[in-house]
Amino acid sequence: MVDSYRVAILGATGAVGTELLDLLEQRRFPVSDLKLLASPRSAGQRLQFKGESIPVEVVDDRSFAGVDLVLASAGASTSRVWAPKAVEAGAVVVDNSSAFRMDPAIPLIVPEVNPEAAATHQGIIANPNCTTILMAVAVFPLHQVQPIKRIVAATYQSASGAGARAMEEVKIQSQAILQGQSPQTEIFPYPLAFNLFPHNSKLNEQGYCEEEMKIVNETRKIFGAPDLRVTATCVRVPVLRAHSEAINLEFERPFSVEQARQILSQAPGVKLVEDWSANYFPMPIEASGKDEVLVGRIRQDISHPAALDLWLCGDQIRKGAALNAIQIAELLVQKDLLKPAIALTR
Ligand code: A2P
Repeated sequence: MVDSYRVAILGATGAVGTELLDLLEQRRFPVSDLKLLASPRSAGQRLQFKGESIPVEVVDDRSFAGVDLVLASAGASTSRVWAPKAVEAGAVVVDNSSAFRMDPAIPLIVPEVNPEAAATHQGIIANPNCTTILMAVAVFPLHQVQPIKRIVAATYQSASGAGARAMEEVKIQSQAILQGQSPQTEIFPYPLAFNLFPHNSKLNEQGYCEEEMKIVNETRKIFGAPDLRVTATCVRVPVLRAHSEAINLEFERPFSVEQARQILSQAPGVKLVEDWSANYFPMPIEASGKDEVLVGRIRQDISHPAALDLWLCGDQIRKGAALNAIQIAELLVQKDLLKPAIALTR
């Protein structure tokens, strides 16, 4: 194990990229050298790290020479081009995009759920979809005690999932509407301010959008449960940066609310937020900027003796993306797995 690492952030100027930068500093990740990479649009920009102003460089073929760790969050098409090149140059890539998540040879990790999968990496480790991460953190501790048969999820997803420009778009739309003007759309297909719409990712023949299928397929992979029944309806809501989810869990056998509450009160990465007398439960505004997934409204499903309902909120940029990626990197350091694919003996 070495003391510190040469790190690159690909997509450093984005919503997740800037959070990665903050988290590297806040969590004192051992960085000996930091490269900030983005597209030509960001050439000339500078970002702060530990009081130092670092220039943003345009990613190119020489960007990864001598880099130990790449934290990539620049979209799937960018990752498909650059992640293999970074691995070839000797780096380990923690990739926040969807490019490699369902590749059977690439581990897909939520550190609270399947840290052991890190040992199988061959250079790239995929960071799951944000909605999936938040659900996995809250649901896996229950699944461990008693297997879940079926998950039904409804999501209320913030603008941040579509990036920094989408967050800006909602603010501008809100101002326009409050001034009596019509909202303009550029990133989203429809106005999001004072509105909501089913998630705008591509629809398949069964009528599911890509985001919904990510929840289905990624949850199965992370839980190591290929037959787990999962269905989801994903909706974009005019919230800036934390996602909410209403989740129904059907277990093999009845699971008491008290036991579920007890398990979740001790689960890593989870914070129970329930004050039934005040009707106070997790809210996206309170989850924003927090590391934990806030869980509450755990109740018996009155329509099924072996099912529970719960409600959660989690910061999409933080645990849903950047924090999970940094936790994966920390795991690699702890397990001495932050080394070029070629050097990994198994
Ligand atoms: P840039 O700011 O130069 O466009 P977000 O998810 O918030 O939209 O951020 C996406 C991040 O990915 C940004 O840092 C963006 O850089 C970066 N990015 C997008 N496309 C590319 C590309 N083709 N090459 C490198 N970086 C890219």
